[in-house]
Amino acid sequence: MNAPAPRHFLKLSAATPAEAHALVARAAALKAADDRSYRPLTGHSLAMIFAKNSTRTRTSFDAGMARFGGNAIMLPVAQTQLGRNEPLADTARVLSRYCSAIMIRNDSQADQEELARHSRVPVINALSDLHHPCQVLADLQTWYEQRGAMAGKTAAWIGDGNNVCNSWIEAARLFGFKLNVACPQGYEPDAATCAWAGSAAQVGRDPQAAVQGAEVVVTDTWTSMGQEGETDTRLQHFNGFQVDDALMTQAAVGALFMHCLPAHRGEEVAPSVIDGPHSVVWDEAGNRMWAQMALLEWLIVGPR
Ligand code: CP
Ligand code: NVA
Repeated sequence: MNAPAPRHFLKLSAATPAEAHALVARAAALKAADDRSYRPLTGHSLAMIFAKNSTRTRTSFDAGMARFGGNAIMLPVAQTQLGRNEPLADTARVLSRYCSAIMIRNDSQADQEELARHSRVPVINALSDLHHPCQVLADLQTWYEQRGAMAGKTAAWIGDGNNVCNSWIEAARLFGFKLNVACPQGYEPDAATCAWAGSAAQVGRDPQAAVQGAEVVVTDTWTSMGQEGETDTRLQHFNGFQVDDALMTQAAVGALFMHCLPAHRGEEVAPSVIDGPHSVVWDEAGNRMWAQMALLEWLIVGPR
C-alpha cells in the first residue's frame, strides 16, 4: 500500500488559516517554555539543500533540530551531485530514505515543486525567488508576541515586491489583516499571489500612503540574491523608498519595524530606524528558530 502523500511547506498558503494561526501560537509557546528536555525529533534528520548563501536560515534550522533531539545535514549544492546535474527527482528519492524532512533554498519555485513531487517526506521552502514562508512565519510570531492577534490590523511593505513580500501578501489573507505595498513601477509583487490575496493586499506607489495606520512597517533589500548585476539601476529606481524616521512617524503610534536581514543601512532603511526604538529585527531573526521548530514538529510528528 502506498504511504499517504506528505505535507509540504513551499509557501505560507500550504497551511490553512487555522493551521497557520496554530503554528504561530505554537512557535511563541515553544519559545516561552524554552524546554530543552522536550525532544520530539529524537532520531530524526533534516537535509538542508542550499544553492544560495545563508546565515540565519542554516543556523536556525540546525540549532532547532539539535534542540529537538535531531540533527541537520548541510548540503551546499556545489558539494553534492546536484551540482553535477543529478536530477532533483532522484535526489528527493534518495534523501527521503535517510531524512524526515528536506529543506531547500534555491531560485526556482518550480524546482522545489519537482523535489516535493518525488519526496516521501515533507519539503520546506527556505527561500525561492517567489516566496520565503519560513521568514514570514517568524515575522508573524514577532508581531503576535508584541501586539497580539493580527486580524483587522494594517501592515505596510515598502520597497521591492520580492519573495518576502509575496509571503507577507499570503499572510494578509491567512491572518485577516490588510497589507499596503508601496513599490516602484516594475517591482510589483507576484500577480498570481496578489490575485489569491484579493482585497487583503493593495499595491501602490506611495510609501507615505502605505504606512497610514500601519502597526508594522516591513522592508527588505533592494537587490536580492541573484540580482547583483542590477544593483546600480535598482539604487536609482528605489530612490524615495527608504524607511526613515519621517516615514515611521506617519505609521501608527509605536509601530514596529521589521526586516528579514541582511540589511543595507542607508539604502532600504535608515540606520536610525533599524537601530532605533521601532526596530524588532533581532527578535525577528531569533524567532526564525522557534517558528521553524514549530513547523518541523507539525510536519514530522504532527500538531501539538
Ligand atoms: N533572512 C534570511 O533568510 O537570512 P539568511 O539569508 O541569512 O538565511
Ligand atoms: N529578498 C532577499 C531575502 C534574503 C533573506 C533575497 O532573496 O536575497
